[in-house]
Amino acid sequence: MSETHPVIAIDGPAASGKSSVARKIAARLGWTYVNTGNMYRAMTHCVLSRGLSLSDSPAIGILAAEVPLSLEVQDGNKVVTVIDHDCPSDEVLNSEEVNRSVSYVAQVPEVRERLVAEQRALAKRGPVVMEGRDIGSVVFPATPLKLYIDASEEVRARRRAVQGHADSVGLRDKIDSTRKTAPLVIPDGAVVIDSSEIGLNEVVDAACEALTQRGVSFT
Ligand code: CDP
Repeated sequence: MSETHPVIAIDGPAASGKSSVARKIAARLGWTYVNTGNMYRAMTHCVLSRGLSLSDSPAIGILAAEVPLSLEVQDGNKVVTVIDHDCPSDEVLNSEEVNRSVSYVAQVPEVRERLVAEQRALAKRGPVVMEGRDIGSVVFPATPLKLYIDASEEVRARRRAVQGHADSVGLRDKIDSTRKTAPLVIPDGAVVIDSSEIGLNEVVDAACEALTQRGVSFT
């Protein structure tokens, strides 16, 4: 697979801080920021709206293959998912119901196939900073720019609670790490940064240093 533009792939477990890091790096570079978790969340909202059972993988697979879906860039550099002619709000995407359901929907192979194809197509439009669970391992395995942001489960659960979201990060991690298709792993060649004991700015500095060593220029 050839990438026409550079891709920074950022993976890590729930609430590890990868979204904040990805957003800051994208802003510094002027590249498009892509939160792939929001695509899985949008698909999950669609599954729930259609009244499908989370255990009905065949029905979810058919929906994922057929539902109208497009990615739109808003405010110059933020990508949102328009699905089934609807663009769910951040509030909906981060609702308790979606938190509870998303890892079940994300393990359906047809869901991943559809969204990975969209993610690859995005990188043909321009340089991207893309974050998720399988970006460095599956979506763009050939990119040399891979980061894995980690933090202890205790720290991550605390961060999510501070954000005011009811979210069982431990359960999501377990499902995400043990699923058959594209489980969460540290991708080959990724620089691992543990954010448990350091603040966001320090994580961003460490990430920028690692990327600079790999040829990215922050001016
Ligand atoms: O923000 P947080 O890290 O808690 O989660 P997220 O990035 O919004 O992702 C929500 C869920 O989507 C994850 O728990 C995974 O089940 C799924 N996901 C995935 O399977 N693959 C990705 N590339 C991104 C998210």
